[in-house]
Amino acid sequence: MAGAPILTLDPDNPDPVVVEHAAALLRRGGLVAFPTETVYGLGANALDPDAVVAIYTAKGRPAWNPVIAHVPDVAAARVLTRYWPPAADRLAAAFWPGPLTMVLPKAPQVPDVATAGLDAVALRIPAHPVALALLRAAGVPIAAPSANRFTQISPTTAQHVQASLGDRVGLILDGGPSSVGIESTVVDLTGPDAVVLRPGMISAADLELALRGSGVAVRMATVTVSHDAPTATAAPQRSPGMADRHYAPRADVWLFDAEQCSEIDAALADRRAGTGTVTALLRTTTLSVPDDTIVRMPDDPAAYARALYAALHAADATGASLIVIERPPDDDRWAGLRDRLTRAAR
Ligand code: TXA
Ligand code: MG
Repeated sequence: MAGAPILTLDPDNPDPVVVEHAAALLRRGGLVAFPTETVYGLGANALDPDAVVAIYTAKGRPAWNPVIAHVPDVAAARVLTRYWPPAADRLAAAFWPGPLTMVLPKAPQVPDVATAGLDAVALRIPAHPVALALLRAAGVPIAAPSANRFTQISPTTAQHVQASLGDRVGLILDGGPSSVGIESTVVDLTGPDAVVLRPGMISAADLELALRGSGVAVRMATVTVSHDAPTATAAPQRSPGMADRHYAPRADVWLFDAEQCSEIDAALADRRAGTGTVTALLRTTTLSVPDDTIVRMPDDPAAYARALYAALHAADATGASLIVIERPPDDDRWAGLRDRLTRAAR
């Protein structure tokens, strides 16, 4: 398979020559995949509409799904907004650099194609030394969705990017496996409340703590969107990344609770009569399947998130036709993971 060059950088000490090479490619309108602490991003100059369009083309992503603009510091974030509310200062102080994306009223210089025509822009300072070095060297904000084909599982290694987009990207920077492992929490600050559009490893309780006493309440978005593009008459989707089928492996995905083990065992016994293989991601339970089909997942949300996408990519790579996954607990710390698993299972 033809592939993009992969340049490996030491996250503790990224080689400035390699970083400048990637930054120059971005400034020329090219696409560079790079590591962040959440997942790998597919980057382009956010201020160059043609470069942003190239992201959509490479991903096969519909134009109604806006992208996040990554910046190296708060000053660079503020210039991309029309209004910077006090809540943004609170959240930036508490969580940036880190796995939080804030949606704020956009400044005119942000091209409409980056926000899918919305009047708001999504902003994040990533907590990865390679991403930060690249952002500083580029001198422009970098628009970057996750570096995977539309609806597929996000990449947490350079190899995942190569497998999915290797023939569509100019360069892949390898900064090691992503330490958070699922996409950032997206919070909309354009209204009176802070609205969580996409849950992630920064929980609603974490946001509430940071906003305590500010008068800004935190609530979860009640989005019921389909995977279809909005019709001409429908309003743009508030957070199109909430599209129903998303973060999905090739295999079928079944989620089950610990009490359902015997039902799942019975269903699997039937299914093994067929041809496909099964992968089981288990946390606290066990199933009557061969040991080598079981992946033991951590019982801690942060460790689970770090391991999840690699486990799903590995299951796809072994040709599993079915992945059965023990559902995480219904608690705030697991909300981002429950969200991704629910979408993967649709
Ligand atoms: O962790 C992450 O967020 C990764 C890394 C690369 O930073 N990026 C990522 O990007 O997950 P993407 O494009 O896969 O998801 C961006 C999410 C989508 O749910 C999108 O709908 C939402 O952010 N979003 C972007 N701009 C928005 C806007 N102006 N208003 C509302 N939602 C927006
Ligand atoms: Mg994505």
